[in-house]
Amino acid sequence: MQVYTTKTELSAFINREHNPVFSLGFVPTMGALHAGHLSLVKTAMSENTLVVVSIFVNPTQFDNPQDLSKYPRTLTEDIKLLETLSKTAIVVYAPTVDDIYGVQTTAERFDFGGLEFQMEGKFRTGHFDGVGTIVKRLFEIVKPTLAYFGEKDFQQLQIIKKMVETSQLPVTIVGCPIEREPNGLAMSSRNSRLSFEEKETAALIYKTLQTVKEKFQLELPKDISHWVSTQFSNHPLFELEYFQISESDNLTPIQQKNQTKTYRAFIAVFARDVRLIDNIALN
Ligand code: PAJ
Repeated sequence: MQVYTTKTELSAFINREHNPVFSLGFVPTMGALHAGHLSLVKTAMSENTLVVVSIFVNPTQFDNPQDLSKYPRTLTEDIKLLETLSKTAIVVYAPTVDDIYGVQTTAERFDFGGLEFQMEGKFRTGHFDGVGTIVKRLFEIVKPTLAYFGEKDFQQLQIIKKMVETSQLPVTIVGCPIEREPNGLAMSSRNSRLSFEEKETAALIYKTLQTVKEKFQLELPKDISHWVSTQFSNHPLFELEYFQISESDNLTPIQQKNQTKTYRAFIAVFARDVRLIDNIALN
């Protein structure tokens, strides 16, 4: 498998491959790959001639230095996992911070039309400016035809779609469904920081979302939110950071349902110092 660590080498390779029928798929990641990432890569492989997977722990999207330093880095294993899918149809771009940012590791400021002020944006200051900065730079380097993002980070997916629309970037964004552990826990690189027992206990997060979906037929969002808080209050492992029912397209929280709209429930929970997020479509 080809692994490039500089944008110059990667661009030279992509330009060499370029021909009129060439379709380039792109899956940006921060590594510590799991079956969730691989599902994006598989979809990308089925729809493109070549797939670039970037592996880069982007410092500008971390609001918490501890979270950044503890983020798992497993490049050798990541490459082995990708090789189980293909050694030729995938190339890896694993740059250094310097290759991406040069001397200034700072984020640009973005206007995502208000999407950035909800949920993750409220609790992780500057997070989406960091995400926008890195994804825009990676798009400029890789120049993909199609780029794949997971619904696991639904707010991120909507923000990237917004950025592409506003800046008229020449790429199509494809959203991919959430991959889960057999017990329902959404797969995440951060799960590797949980013990076996903690992962079992963390099944509560998705179980709660499934019950929320049932309750949504009959109950008001504020009553559902209250019920969710009781599920996590005084829990020995978890601390609930937020729970919110929002319109799927603009992510604004709702008080009342409107039959013509689609809704999703979003949750962020700390298991000790490990931050876990999940979401579910409600209709
Ligand atoms: P990372 O958390 O590594 O995720 C990379 C991609 O994999 C994202 O699009 C994410 O939504 C998707 N993904 C993660 N877990 C998933 C799961 N269980 N099921 C389906 N898809 C899943 O998201 C990032 O990295 C970064 O913010 C990035 C976009 C790379 C910018 O730095």
